[in-house]
Amino acid sequence: MMQKIILITGATDGIGKVAAKALAKQGHKVIIHGRNKEKAQAVRDEIKRETGNNKIDTIIADLFSLADVKKMSEEFKSRYERLDVLINNAGAIFGKNRETTKEGLEKTMTLNVFSPLLLTELLMDVLVKSPSARIINTSSAMHRRSAKPDFSDLQLEKRYSSSGSYALSKLYLIWLTQHLAAQLKKQGIRNVTANVSHPGAVATQFGQSNDKGFFINLVFKGAMGLSRIIRVLGDPEKGAATTVYLATSQQVEGVSGKFFDHKMKEEKPQDKHYSKENEQKLWDSCMRIISPYLK
Ligand SMILES: NC(=O)c1ccc[n+]([C@@H]2O[C@H](COP(=O)([O-])OP(=O)(O)OC[C@H]3O[C@@H](n4cnc5c(N)ncnc54)[C@H](OP(=O)(O)O)[C@@H]3O)[C@@H](O)[C@H]2O)c1
Repeated sequence: MMQKIILITGATDGIGKVAAKALAKQGHKVIIHGRNKEKAQAVRDEIKRETGNNKIDTIIADLFSLADVKKMSEEFKSRYERLDVLINNAGAIFGKNRETTKEGLEKTMTLNVFSPLLLTELLMDVLVKSPSARIINTSSAMHRRSAKPDFSDLQLEKRYSSSGSYALSKLYLIWLTQHLAAQLKKQGIRNVTANVSHPGAVATQFGQSNDKGFFINLVFKGAMGLSRIIRVLGDPEKGAATTVYLATSQQVEGVSGKFFDHKMKEEKPQDKHYSKENEQKLWDSCMRIISPYLK
C-alpha cells in the first residue's frame, strides 16, 4: 500500500486517537491534530512507541477559532506539499445553554460544521496535489433526530438545545459532504473524494463534560458508567473502524458523496428535510460565515 500523508483532527482522545494508531500501524505518515500541545505530543509518543512508526507528527489548533483553523492550514502547508487523507473527526455535544466562541459563533456549529468545512477548503490545494485524496467527515446517527433546518438561524439564536443542535450539526455535515463531492465532480476534480461516516455509539469522552440538563446528562453518564460493567457502548476500536476503512481501503477508491455506518456499510442518510435547494442554501450560508478566513 502507498504510504499516505494523513491528517486527523481530534486525534488526542477517543475515536480519533484509536484511528490514528491504526493508521500508524499500517505505516502511514499520520499528523495528530490536538488543541493542547502537551496532550498531542504525549499521544504522538505513545503511538510511536506502540506501533514502531516514527513518522508521526503533531499540529495544534483550537477548532473553536476559525482564525486558528486558518493558521493550522498554513502551518500544514509549510511542512507538507500534499495531503492524501483529511479526517475531520473532532466534534462534540454541548451544554443546555447556548454558548459562543471568542469569534462570536455558536459552539456546536463552529466545532462540528464551520471548522471542518473551513479546514477542508483551505487544504483543498494540497489535497488536489495527491494522486488520490480522500476527505472523511465524522457525522452521527443522531442526524436522524434533527429538526427542520432554519438557514436564517445557523447560529441557533432562535432555537438551541444540546442534543437538537448536535443532531442538526451532524445533518448539516452530511449535506455539506454531499455538496462538496458533487462540486468536485462538476469541476472535473477526479482525484479527491469526500465521504461521511457514523462511528456508532462508543465509549469515549464524548458527552461526558458540559451540563446538558438532568435527563441528557443521565443518558450520557449512565451509558458510560454502565459500559464499564456491561456492553452498552462499543469500544473506540469499533468506532474507528469505518474511519480507517474510508481512509485506506481499496474498496472505496473513487467512491464519493456517500454516508457509511459504523459497520462500513453505505447507508441512506435521513432525507426528511433534504432537497437540492436546501443543500445549496446551507452551503451558501456556511460559505458566508467562513469566507473572511478563506482570503
Ligand atoms: N462517541 C460516540 O458515541 C460518537 C457517536 C457518534 C458520533 N461521534 C462523533 O465522533 C467524533 C469523535 O468523537 P469521540 O467520541 O472520539 O469524542 P472525544 O472522546 O470527546 O474526542 C474528541 C476529540 O476532539 C477534540 N476536540 C474537542 N473540541 C475541540 C476543539 N475546540 N479544538 C480542537 N479539538 C477539539 C478533543 O480534544 P481534547 O483531547 O483536547 O479534548 C478530542 O481529541 C465526533 O465528531 C463525534 O461527534 C461520536
